Amino acid sequence: MDKLRIVGGAPLRGTIAVGGAKNAALPLMTAALLTDETLTLANMPDVADITAMAGLLHLLGVHLNLQGDAGANDDTHVVDFTAKNIASTTAPYDLVRKMRASILVLGPLLARAGEARVSLPGGCAIGTRPVDLHLEALKKLGAEIDIESGYVLARAPKGLVGGDIVFPVVTVTGTENALMAACLAKGRTTIANAAREPEVTDLAQCLVKMGADIQGIGTDKLLIQGKPRLHGAKHSIVPDRIQAGTYLMAVGMAGGSIEVKGAKPPHLQAALDVLQACGMQFEPTIEGLRATCTGRLKAADVDTAPFPLFPTDLQAQFMALMTLADGTSHIAENIFENRFMHVQELIRLGADIAVKGHTARVCGVPKLTGAPVMATDLRASVSLVMAGLAAQGETTVSRIYHLDRGYERLEEKLARCGAHIERVRG
Ligand code: EPZ
Repeated sequence: MDKLRIVGGAPLRGTIAVGGAKNAALPLMTAALLTDETLTLANMPDVADITAMAGLLHLLGVHLNLQGDAGANDDTHVVDFTAKNIASTTAPYDLVRKMRASILVLGPLLARAGEARVSLPGGCAIGTRPVDLHLEALKKLGAEIDIESGYVLARAPKGLVGGDIVFPVVTVTGTENALMAACLAKGRTTIANAAREPEVTDLAQCLVKMGADIQGIGTDKLLIQGKPRLHGAKHSIVPDRIQAGTYLMAVGMAGGSIEVKGAKPPHLQAALDVLQACGMQFEPTIEGLRATCTGRLKAADVDTAPFPLFPTDLQAQFMALMTLADGTSHIAENIFENRFMHVQELIRLGADIAVKGHTARVCGVPKLTGAPVMATDLRASVSLVMAGLAAQGETTVSRIYHLDRGYERLEEKLARCGAHIERVRG
């Protein structure tokens, strides 16, 4: 298995472009199931999760056509998705277990084909990741749902009907499944306590281009008037705010100054506010945002929460930053029950972190020392790379297949900005 080898101490200077958001591309790809016409997605990211979803959609009968590399930058592509006919309504366990976002085919298959058989995703490193709220929402739209031998069996032989959905907990993919199903349900659907993440907004905007009638986009209350069918459309995927936030924080870790092309401040405001309080400087550029860090950061506290508050997907990266900050930081992870897998690995690098319940107390230390560490999940892996950029000596990060799920050629982008980092093929 590949590893990343990093020798810390080099400040970052230059420009990094982020691709389309993985967590927008995944639901947008499944939206292609809602129509028999072609959905063209531009700024498609090129990461492992996307490849996995493409494989599943192909199995379901979606024809994919990779257009010439007309992407916004050299990491992105333009891809046509055409679900002229649905060849299968089963999402098999061996695919779903590798990529839990496969659950996003449930709503569209049910709406388009009247049935779906989707493996329960199972848990992952950061938590049990249940899908009960997805199923409850689809039942409100008239779906009959059974669980059999680890599969969700969903049926709506007479088609879905509009209903009133209230999510007790904000769920991003739960909102996306319900939203896509409601677009083809007969009548009116309301979704209360809907997720407001920019990726959900991007999906809703694309569905409107496909002919859906959605009000309240960007708010926590969505109103959908179902349509008999949707048509094809062209849509460019919103830039990846988590990739952008990661690269901005990498400057805070290694020092220096980089422009992150594609960074959209309104999608990252909560994180930017905290980072500025810690002492980082930001200035908007024509294509994104420049981050500069000179000197030691001050510690700050963070509570993860649904958008527009601090995103859980930047928690591990922020924790890496706080290991070298001046003072003590309290980081509360309020979304997932086990998203501190990076703590033990950061401690191996010399960090001073104590976890109590769902809060990590990080006491800043003057230096980190390079060591072999192991990635456990997507965002934890990048927090270890960031720590390696600042640690004295050599850090090797193993199991970086986690990293490849959400970042295109991270090591090349950082190396081009002066980092001493290389991929060692294993
Ligand atoms: C999405 O996951 C993202 N994935 C995650 O990004 C992200 O961390 C998460 O939202 C929170 O922002 C994609 O968009 C593909 P949730 P999702 O449903 O939708 C509980 C990454 O690193 N819950 O918003 O699965 C759940 O346990 C990934 O890119 C239920 O209890 O997350 C959690 O505590 C990691 N029942 C909370 O809700 C349900 O049916 C929020 O989860 C669904 C969720």
